[in-house]
Amino acid sequence: MGPQVTSKYESVQEDEARSFVKALIDSPDELLSHVNRSMSNVILRILYGYSPSQELDEISNAGQRITYEASALLVASSRLLDLLPFLRHLPVFRRRAEELRELFLHVNSAPFDMVKKGLEKAAAIEDHSLTNSLCATLLLEGLTGQPGSAGSEHSIKMFLGSIYPPGQETTSATLYMFFLMMGNNPEVQARARKEIMSITGGHRLPQLSDRTSFIYVMAVFKELLRYHSAAPLGLPHLSDEEYIYEGYRIPKNTIVFGNIWEILHDPEIYPDPFEFKPERFLGMTAKTPEGYPTDPRQYVFGFGRRTCPASHLAESSLLISIATVLATCDIGPCFNPDGSKIENFQYTPTLVAHPLPFKCSINVIAREIL
Ligand code: HEM
Repeated sequence: MGPQVTSKYESVQEDEARSFVKALIDSPDELLSHVNRSMSNVILRILYGYSPSQELDEISNAGQRITYEASALLVASSRLLDLLPFLRHLPVFRRRAEELRELFLHVNSAPFDMVKKGLEKAAAIEDHSLTNSLCATLLLEGLTGQPGSAGSEHSIKMFLGSIYPPGQETTSATLYMFFLMMGNNPEVQARARKEIMSITGGHRLPQLSDRTSFIYVMAVFKELLRYHSAAPLGLPHLSDEEYIYEGYRIPKNTIVFGNIWEILHDPEIYPDPFEFKPERFLGMTAKTPEGYPTDPRQYVFGFGRRTCPASHLAESSLLISIATVLATCDIGPCFNPDGSKIENFQYTPTLVAHPLPFKCSINVIAREIL
Protein backbone atom coordinates (compact mmCIF):
# COMPACT_ATOMS: atom_id res chain seq x y z
CA MET A 1 0.00 0.00 0.00
CA GLY A 2 3.03 2.30 -0.23
CA PRO A 3 3.42 5.13 -2.78
CA GLN A 4 4.99 2.89 -5.44
CA VAL A 5 1.96 0.57 -5.38
CA THR A 6 -0.75 3.18 -4.99
CA SER A 7 0.57 5.44 -7.78
CA LYS A 8 -0.67 2.68 -10.12
CA TYR A 9 -4.20 3.59 -9.16
CA GLU A 10 -4.09 7.35 -9.76
CA SER A 11 -6.27 7.11 -12.87
CA VAL A 12 -8.95 5.32 -10.80
CA GLN A 13 -8.84 8.14 -8.26
CA GLU A 14 -9.06 10.83 -10.96
CA ASP A 15 -11.91 9.01 -12.65
CA GLU A 16 -13.85 8.64 -9.39
CA ALA A 17 -13.29 12.33 -8.52
CA ARG A 18 -14.82 13.30 -11.86
CA SER A 19 -17.81 10.95 -11.36
CA PHE A 20 -18.24 12.30 -7.84
CA VAL A 21 -18.54 15.90 -9.04
CA LYS A 22 -20.88 14.95 -11.88
CA ALA A 23 -23.18 13.16 -9.42
CA LEU A 24 -22.95 16.12 -7.04
CA ILE A 25 -23.99 18.56 -9.74
CA ASP A 26 -26.95 16.37 -10.68
CA SER A 27 -28.23 16.08 -7.10
CA PRO A 28 -26.42 18.48 -4.74
CA ASP A 29 -28.86 17.74 -1.90
CA GLU A 30 -27.41 14.25 -1.67
CA LEU A 31 -23.89 15.44 -0.84
CA LEU A 32 -23.32 12.98 2.02
CA SER A 33 -24.39 9.95 0.03
CA HIS A 34 -22.20 11.02 -2.94
CA VAL A 35 -19.22 11.45 -0.61
CA ASN A 36 -19.74 8.00 0.91
CA ARG A 37 -20.28 6.35 -2.47
CA SER A 38 -17.24 7.97 -4.05
CA MET A 39 -14.78 7.09 -1.27
CA SER A 40 -16.22 3.59 -1.20
CA ASN A 41 -15.87 3.13 -4.96
CA VAL A 42 -12.23 4.27 -4.99
CA ILE A 43 -11.28 1.63 -2.45
CA LEU A 44 -13.42 -1.14 -3.94
CA ARG A 45 -11.99 -0.46 -7.40
CA ILE A 46 -8.41 -0.53 -6.09
CA LEU A 47 -8.97 -3.65 -4.03
CA TYR A 48 -11.13 -5.57 -6.49
CA GLY A 49 -10.79 -3.73 -9.79
CA TYR A 50 -14.43 -3.61 -10.77
CA SER A 51 -16.06 -0.47 -12.13
CA PRO A 52 -19.20 0.59 -10.30
CA SER A 53 -22.11 -1.63 -11.18
CA GLN A 54 -25.32 -2.65 -9.51
CA GLU A 55 -23.51 -5.55 -7.83
CA LEU A 56 -20.74 -3.28 -6.57
CA ASP A 57 -23.31 -0.75 -5.36
CA GLU A 58 -24.90 -3.42 -3.24
CA ILE A 59 -21.50 -4.37 -1.75
CA SER A 60 -20.67 -0.74 -1.23
CA ASN A 61 -23.96 -0.12 0.65
CA ALA A 62 -23.43 -3.19 2.84
CA GLY A 63 -19.81 -2.15 3.51
CA GLN A 64 -20.85 1.35 4.55
CA ARG A 65 -23.49 -0.12 6.89
CA ILE A 66 -21.01 -2.46 8.60
CA THR A 67 -18.46 0.26 9.04
CA TYR A 68 -20.88 2.67 10.62
CA GLU A 69 -22.69 0.18 12.81
CA ALA A 70 -19.59 -1.64 14.03
CA SER A 71 -17.96 1.63 14.92
CA ALA A 72 -21.09 2.83 16.77
CA LEU A 73 -21.45 -0.52 18.56
CA LEU A 74 -17.82 -0.48 19.67
CA VAL A 75 -18.06 2.93 21.26
CA ALA A 76 -21.55 2.58 22.72
CA SER A 77 -21.12 -0.81 24.32
CA SER A 78 -17.41 -1.35 24.83
CA ARG A 79 -17.14 0.52 28.13
CA LEU A 80 -20.15 -1.30 29.54
CA LEU A 81 -18.81 -4.67 28.41
CA ASP A 82 -15.37 -3.94 29.86
CA LEU A 83 -16.94 -3.29 33.25
CA LEU A 84 -19.50 -6.11 33.14
CA PRO A 85 -18.10 -8.70 30.71
CA PHE A 86 -20.90 -11.25 31.37
CA LEU A 87 -23.25 -8.87 29.51
CA ARG A 88 -21.75 -10.08 26.25
CA HIS A 89 -23.95 -13.17 26.59
CA LEU A 90 -27.14 -11.08 26.47
CA PRO A 91 -29.12 -11.80 23.29
CA VAL A 92 -29.18 -8.13 22.36
CA PHE A 93 -25.36 -7.99 22.01
CA ARG A 94 -24.99 -11.46 20.55
CA ARG A 95 -27.64 -10.85 17.90
CA ARG A 96 -26.10 -7.57 16.76
CA ALA A 97 -22.61 -9.11 16.65
CA GLU A 98 -23.91 -12.12 14.67
CA GLU A 99 -25.72 -9.91 12.15
CA LEU A 100 -22.63 -7.78 11.61
CA ARG A 101 -20.45 -10.87 11.28
CA GLU A 102 -22.72 -12.25 8.54
CA LEU A 103 -22.68 -8.93 6.72
CA PHE A 104 -18.89 -8.68 7.08
CA LEU A 105 -18.37 -12.16 5.63
CA HIS A 106 -20.67 -11.30 2.73
CA VAL A 107 -18.84 -8.03 2.00
CA ASN A 108 -15.52 -9.91 2.05
CA SER A 109 -16.64 -12.85 -0.02
CA ALA A 110 -18.80 -11.33 -2.75
CA PRO A 111 -16.17 -9.10 -4.45
CA PHE A 112 -13.44 -11.70 -3.87
CA ASP A 113 -15.51 -14.34 -5.66
CA MET A 114 -16.18 -11.88 -8.50
CA VAL A 115 -12.44 -11.35 -8.98
CA LYS A 116 -11.70 -15.05 -8.83
CA LYS A 117 -14.30 -15.83 -11.48
CA GLY A 118 -13.07 -12.85 -13.51
CA LEU A 119 -9.50 -14.15 -13.40
CA GLU A 120 -10.55 -17.55 -14.67
CA LYS A 121 -12.44 -15.85 -17.49
CA ALA A 122 -9.54 -13.45 -18.15
CA ALA A 123 -7.10 -16.36 -18.46
CA ALA A 124 -9.46 -18.03 -20.94
CA ILE A 125 -9.84 -14.92 -23.13
CA GLU A 126 -6.36 -13.51 -22.40
CA ASP A 127 -7.81 -10.26 -21.04
CA HIS A 128 -5.18 -8.60 -18.81
CA SER A 129 -7.36 -5.66 -17.69
CA LEU A 130 -8.83 -7.79 -14.90
CA THR A 131 -5.49 -8.60 -13.33
CA ASN A 132 -4.73 -5.08 -12.12
CA SER A 133 -6.48 -5.01 -8.75
CA LEU A 134 -4.78 -5.71 -5.44
CA CYS A 135 -6.95 -8.81 -5.03
CA ALA A 136 -6.00 -10.16 -8.46
CA THR A 137 -2.31 -9.40 -7.82
CA LEU A 138 -2.37 -11.27 -4.52
CA LEU A 139 -4.33 -14.18 -5.95
CA LEU A 140 -1.92 -14.51 -8.87
CA GLU A 141 1.10 -14.31 -6.54
CA GLY A 142 -0.50 -16.98 -4.36
CA LEU A 143 -1.08 -19.20 -7.37
CA THR A 144 2.43 -18.85 -8.70
CA GLY A 145 3.93 -19.26 -5.20
CA GLN A 146 6.25 -16.26 -5.71
CA PRO A 147 8.49 -15.35 -2.76
CA GLY A 148 6.51 -13.26 -0.26
CA SER A 149 3.35 -14.60 -1.83
CA ALA A 150 0.14 -13.64 -0.21
CA GLY A 151 -0.88 -16.88 1.47
CA SER A 152 -4.18 -18.70 1.46
CA GLU A 153 -7.33 -17.45 -0.22
CA HIS A 154 -8.85 -17.05 3.21
CA SER A 155 -6.06 -14.76 4.40
CA ILE A 156 -6.23 -12.69 1.18
CA LYS A 157 -9.98 -12.34 1.61
CA MET A 158 -9.68 -11.28 5.25
CA PHE A 159 -6.75 -8.94 4.56
CA LEU A 160 -8.66 -7.10 1.82
CA GLY A 161 -11.82 -7.06 3.93
CA SER A 162 -9.97 -5.41 6.81
CA ILE A 163 -8.75 -2.58 4.60
CA TYR A 164 -12.13 -1.46 3.28
CA PRO A 165 -13.91 -0.28 6.48
CA PRO A 166 -11.20 2.00 7.94
CA GLY A 167 -10.39 3.36 4.48
CA GLN A 168 -13.94 4.15 3.48
CA GLU A 169 -14.95 5.74 6.75
CA THR A 170 -11.95 7.97 7.39
CA THR A 171 -11.76 9.37 3.86
CA SER A 172 -15.55 9.98 3.70
CA ALA A 173 -15.54 11.79 7.04
CA THR A 174 -12.63 13.99 5.89
CA LEU A 175 -14.13 14.80 2.48
CA TYR A 176 -17.50 15.66 4.04
CA MET A 177 -15.73 17.97 6.49
CA PHE A 178 -14.01 19.67 3.56
CA PHE A 179 -17.40 20.96 2.35
CA LEU A 180 -18.21 22.33 5.78
CA MET A 181 -14.85 24.08 6.01
CA MET A 182 -15.08 25.57 2.50
CA GLY A 183 -18.69 26.71 2.99
CA ASN A 184 -17.71 28.51 6.17
CA ASN A 185 -14.39 29.93 4.92
CA PRO A 186 -15.14 31.44 1.49
CA GLU A 187 -11.84 33.34 1.34
CA VAL A 188 -9.88 30.08 1.77
CA GLN A 189 -12.00 28.47 -0.92
CA ALA A 190 -11.41 31.37 -3.33
CA ARG A 191 -7.64 31.32 -2.77
CA ALA A 192 -7.42 27.56 -3.31
CA ARG A 193 -9.51 27.80 -6.49
CA LYS A 194 -7.31 30.63 -7.79
CA GLU A 195 -4.24 28.45 -7.37
CA ILE A 196 -5.88 25.56 -9.23
CA MET A 197 -6.96 27.88 -12.08
CA SER A 198 -3.42 29.21 -12.36
CA ILE A 199 -2.18 25.63 -12.86
CA THR A 200 -4.86 24.33 -15.22
CA GLY A 201 -5.72 27.61 -16.96
CA GLY A 202 -9.35 26.70 -16.24
CA HIS A 203 -9.42 24.58 -19.46
CA ARG A 204 -9.03 21.14 -17.89
CA LEU A 205 -9.51 19.27 -14.66
CA PRO A 206 -6.64 19.13 -12.17
CA GLN A 207 -4.64 15.88 -12.14
CA LEU A 208 -2.53 14.13 -9.54
CA SER A 209 0.53 14.95 -11.62
CA ASP A 210 -0.14 18.64 -10.74
CA ARG A 211 0.29 17.96 -7.03
CA THR A 212 3.83 19.38 -6.79
CA SER A 213 2.35 22.74 -7.86
CA PHE A 214 -0.38 22.60 -5.21
CA ILE A 215 1.12 24.83 -2.54
CA TYR A 216 -1.97 26.42 -1.04
CA VAL A 217 -4.21 23.43 -1.84
CA MET A 218 -1.74 21.23 0.04
CA ALA A 219 -1.94 23.65 2.98
CA VAL A 220 -5.76 23.34 2.86
CA PHE A 221 -5.40 19.56 2.89
CA LYS A 222 -3.05 19.61 5.89
CA GLU A 223 -5.34 22.01 7.75
CA LEU A 224 -8.29 19.73 7.02
CA LEU A 225 -6.44 16.75 8.52
CA ARG A 226 -5.39 18.84 11.50
CA TYR A 227 -8.76 20.43 12.14
CA HIS A 228 -10.82 17.31 11.80
CA SER A 229 -8.53 14.30 12.55
CA ALA A 230 -11.00 11.65 11.42
CA ALA A 231 -9.77 9.04 13.92
CA PRO A 232 -9.31 11.35 16.94
CA LEU A 233 -7.95 8.67 19.28
CA GLY A 234 -6.48 6.40 16.60
CA LEU A 235 -6.45 2.73 17.57
CA PRO A 236 -5.38 1.31 20.94
CA HIS A 237 -1.70 0.37 21.45
CA LEU A 238 -0.15 -1.86 24.13
CA SER A 239 3.01 -1.00 26.07
CA ASP A 240 5.42 -3.93 25.76
CA GLU A 241 7.57 -2.67 28.63
CA GLU A 242 7.25 -0.35 31.60
CA TYR A 243 7.75 3.27 30.64
CA ILE A 244 7.97 6.57 32.55
CA TYR A 245 6.48 9.47 30.62
CA GLU A 246 6.80 12.93 32.17
CA GLY A 247 6.71 11.42 35.67
CA TYR A 248 3.80 9.05 34.94
CA ARG A 249 4.48 5.33 35.17
CA ILE A 250 2.91 3.34 32.34
CA PRO A 251 3.13 -0.32 33.41
CA LYS A 252 3.90 -3.08 30.90
CA ASN A 253 0.76 -4.33 29.05
CA THR A 254 -1.19 -1.09 29.47
CA ILE A 255 -3.61 -0.13 26.71
CA VAL A 256 -2.63 3.34 25.53
CA PHE A 257 -4.50 5.69 23.22
CA GLY A 258 -2.51 8.46 21.54
CA ASN A 259 -4.72 11.55 21.75
CA ILE A 260 -4.28 12.65 18.15
CA TRP A 261 -7.03 15.27 18.38
CA GLU A 262 -5.42 16.92 21.42
CA ILE A 263 -2.00 17.07 19.77
CA LEU A 264 -3.47 18.64 16.63
CA HIS A 265 -5.31 21.28 18.69
CA ASP A 266 -2.35 22.22 20.87
CA PRO A 267 -2.23 26.03 20.78
CA GLU A 268 1.53 25.96 21.41
CA ILE A 269 2.05 24.24 18.05
CA TYR A 270 -1.03 25.49 16.21
CA PRO A 271 -2.12 28.95 17.46
CA ASP A 272 -5.93 29.53 17.26
CA PRO A 273 -6.47 25.79 16.85
CA PHE A 274 -10.24 26.13 16.31
CA GLU A 275 -9.81 28.41 13.31
CA PHE A 276 -9.43 26.93 9.85
CA LYS A 277 -6.22 28.61 8.70
CA PRO A 278 -4.26 26.83 5.93
CA GLU A 279 -1.86 29.81 5.92
CA ARG A 280 -0.32 28.45 9.12
CA PHE A 281 1.39 25.78 7.02
CA LEU A 282 2.84 28.19 4.46
CA GLY A 283 5.46 29.79 6.65
CA MET A 284 5.75 27.07 9.28
CA THR A 285 9.04 25.36 10.05
CA ALA A 286 9.02 21.57 9.91
CA LYS A 287 9.70 21.19 13.63
CA THR A 288 8.62 22.96 16.85
CA PRO A 289 11.41 24.38 19.08
CA GLU A 290 11.07 21.16 21.14
CA GLY A 291 11.77 19.14 18.01
CA TYR A 292 8.23 17.77 17.41
CA PRO A 293 7.10 17.70 13.75
CA THR A 294 4.44 20.26 12.83
CA ASP A 295 3.08 18.42 9.78
CA PRO A 296 -0.27 16.91 10.92
CA ARG A 297 0.36 13.87 8.72
CA GLN A 298 2.92 12.80 11.32
CA TYR A 299 0.10 12.34 13.86
CA VAL A 300 -3.21 11.90 12.07
CA PHE A 301 -2.31 8.46 10.68
CA GLY A 302 -1.26 7.05 14.05
CA PHE A 303 2.05 5.89 15.46
CA GLY A 304 4.62 3.12 15.33
CA ARG A 305 4.52 -0.18 13.51
CA ARG A 306 0.73 -0.20 13.12
CA THR A 307 0.55 3.28 11.65
CA CYS A 308 -2.04 3.65 8.86
CA PRO A 309 -0.72 1.65 5.89
CA ALA A 310 -2.74 3.70 3.39
CA SER A 311 -1.77 7.28 4.17
CA HIS A 312 -0.51 7.83 0.58
CA LEU A 313 -3.66 6.37 -0.89
CA ALA A 314 -5.80 8.53 1.41
CA GLU A 315 -3.80 11.62 0.51
CA SER A 316 -4.11 11.21 -3.24
CA SER A 317 -7.83 10.26 -3.11
CA LEU A 318 -8.65 13.27 -0.98
CA LEU A 319 -6.38 15.72 -2.82
CA ILE A 320 -7.80 14.94 -6.25
CA SER A 321 -11.41 15.02 -4.99
CA ILE A 322 -10.84 18.37 -3.30
CA ALA A 323 -9.07 19.87 -6.32
CA THR A 324 -11.74 18.60 -8.76
CA VAL A 325 -14.54 20.07 -6.63
CA LEU A 326 -12.76 23.43 -6.35
CA ALA A 327 -12.11 23.56 -10.10
CA THR A 328 -15.75 23.00 -11.01
CA CYS A 329 -18.06 24.05 -8.16
CA ASP A 330 -18.59 26.87 -5.72
CA ILE A 331 -19.54 25.73 -2.21
CA GLY A 332 -21.97 28.08 -0.48
CA PRO A 333 -22.48 28.62 3.27
CA CYS A 334 -23.49 25.56 5.32
CA PHE A 335 -26.47 25.31 7.68
CA ASN A 336 -28.04 22.80 10.04
CA PRO A 337 -30.60 20.53 8.32
CA ASP A 338 -33.43 22.74 9.73
CA GLY A 339 -31.85 25.79 8.05
CA SER A 340 -30.49 27.36 11.28
CA LYS A 341 -26.91 28.64 11.59
CA ILE A 342 -24.29 26.09 12.68
CA GLU A 343 -23.00 27.41 16.02
CA ASN A 344 -20.76 24.49 16.98
CA PHE A 345 -19.57 21.66 14.79
CA GLN A 346 -20.94 18.36 16.10
CA TYR A 347 -19.58 14.90 15.38
CA THR A 348 -20.89 11.34 15.63
CA PRO A 349 -19.74 9.59 18.84
CA THR A 350 -17.98 6.84 16.86
CA LEU A 351 -14.42 5.56 16.52
CA VAL A 352 -14.18 7.57 13.31
CA ALA A 353 -15.73 10.98 13.92
CA HIS A 354 -18.12 12.16 11.19
CA PRO A 355 -19.52 15.68 11.10
CA LEU A 356 -23.29 15.56 11.75
CA PRO A 357 -25.32 16.10 8.56
CA PHE A 358 -25.57 19.68 7.28
CA LYS A 359 -26.92 21.46 4.21
CA CYS A 360 -24.90 23.54 1.79
CA SER A 361 -25.51 24.96 -1.65
CA ILE A 362 -23.31 23.82 -4.51
CA ASN A 363 -23.17 25.87 -7.70
CA VAL A 364 -21.46 24.58 -10.81
CA ILE A 365 -18.93 27.02 -12.28
CA ALA A 366 -17.15 24.96 -14.96
CA ARG A 367 -19.30 22.08 -16.18
CA GLU A 368 -17.60 22.05 -19.59
CA ILE A 369 -14.30 20.65 -18.24
CA LEU A 370 -15.95 17.61 -16.60
C1 HEM B 1 -7.85 10.61 6.20
C2 HEM B 1 -7.75 9.30 6.06
C3 HEM B 1 -7.24 8.35 7.11
C4 HEM B 1 -6.92 8.56 8.42
C5 HEM B 1 -7.00 9.86 9.21
C6 HEM B 1 -6.47 7.28 8.96
C7 HEM B 1 -6.04 7.10 10.26
C8 HEM B 1 -5.64 5.89 10.78
C9 HEM B 1 -5.17 5.69 12.13
C10 HEM B 1 -5.04 6.78 13.18
C11 HEM B 1 -4.88 4.38 12.28
C12 HEM B 1 -4.36 3.70 13.56
C13 HEM B 1 -2.85 3.65 13.54
C14 HEM B 1 -2.27 3.29 14.90
O1 HEM B 1 -2.52 2.17 15.36
O2 HEM B 1 -1.61 4.12 15.50
C15 HEM B 1 -5.17 3.72 11.02
C16 HEM B 1 -5.02 2.37 10.79
C17 HEM B 1 -5.42 1.75 9.63
N1 HEM B 1 -5.84 2.36 8.48
FE1 HEM B 1 -6.07 4.34 8.17
N2 HEM B 1 -6.54 6.33 7.98
C18 HEM B 1 -7.01 6.93 6.83
C19 HEM B 1 -7.22 6.32 5.60
C20 HEM B 1 -7.12 4.97 5.37
C21 HEM B 1 -7.37 4.33 4.08
C22 HEM B 1 -7.77 5.06 2.79
C23 HEM B 1 -7.20 2.98 4.27
C24 HEM B 1 -7.34 1.85 3.29
C25 HEM B 1 -7.60 1.94 2.01
C26 HEM B 1 -6.82 2.79 5.67
C27 HEM B 1 -6.54 1.56 6.23
C28 HEM B 1 -6.10 1.38 7.54
C29 HEM B 1 -5.83 0.07 8.13
C30 HEM B 1 -5.99 -1.28 7.43
C31 HEM B 1 -5.39 0.30 9.43
C32 HEM B 1 -4.97 -0.74 10.47
C33 HEM B 1 -3.48 -0.96 10.42
C34 HEM B 1 -2.99 -1.99 11.43
O3 HEM B 1 -3.60 -2.15 12.48
O4 HEM B 1 -1.97 -2.62 11.16
N3 HEM B 1 -6.78 4.01 6.29
N4 HEM B 1 -5.62 4.67 10.11
